[in-house]
Amino acid sequence: MSPAPAKAPVRILPSILTADFGRLAEEMAALDQAGVDRFHLDVMDGHFVPNITFGPDVIAALRPHAQAPFEAHLMVSRPEELFGRYIDAGCERLLLHPETLQQAHHAYTAVRDLGARPGIALSPATGLCHLDHVLDLVDTVCVMTVSPGFGGQSYLSAMEPKIAEARRRLDALDRHVELEVDGGIGPETIAAAAKAGADVFVCGSAMWKYPSFADGVTDLRARAESARR
Ligand code: DX5
Ligand code: ZN
Repeated sequence: MSPAPAKAPVRILPSILTADFGRLAEEMAALDQAGVDRFHLDVMDGHFVPNITFGPDVIAALRPHAQAPFEAHLMVSRPEELFGRYIDAGCERLLLHPETLQQAHHAYTAVRDLGARPGIALSPATGLCHLDHVLDLVDTVCVMTVSPGFGGQSYLSAMEPKIAEARRRLDALDRHVELEVDGGIGPETIAAAAKAGADVFVCGSAMWKYPSFADGVTDLRARAESARR
């Protein structure tokens, strides 16, 4: 019986969708200070999802204001048209929804060829079958625990069996692929998501409810770590 794979460190990623868009740079500098592991930038085009947020030019303007790495969650149609722009803007990771890709295998490969890390983002009704034949190409599997488009939605605990099955599949690999959860993650829900198998946690509205970002990062990290023991 091979030993259980060592657990990857817990990663806490703020989604800036909840931030004050009039003070984005300031808020990101404060989140950086608070010790976030990576920034989760929700790009929305009003087509794949109803909401519209920001694109690569805003991301580029934010890059100098924070040290932690950037990942772009591309909730857009035809994302492949701008891969290079997001990467040049400073994103080291691009999360792609397979429904938006004409040729998914090619798209994940193209992101890596451009020097970034590709990830797969699965909406609640999008099956794990989209991991078939591409798990060797990606560095993150993101199981969404809300329907994409807006922050502040309720966590879908019905996604926990999907998280657990994804964890089983990733543990069977001979390379590390992150298991990220995104949507409704906060003090009341992060433990269940961690127990189900997630190691990377996107926290949007919950982060802004703490007295300080440092309190949020500390509390959320502690809750996730103790749930995994
Ligand atoms: C939703 C986004 C999420 C969202 C998370 O489409 O992908 O990243 O902003 O925000 P909360 O944590 O408030 O659900
Ligand atoms: Zn997101």
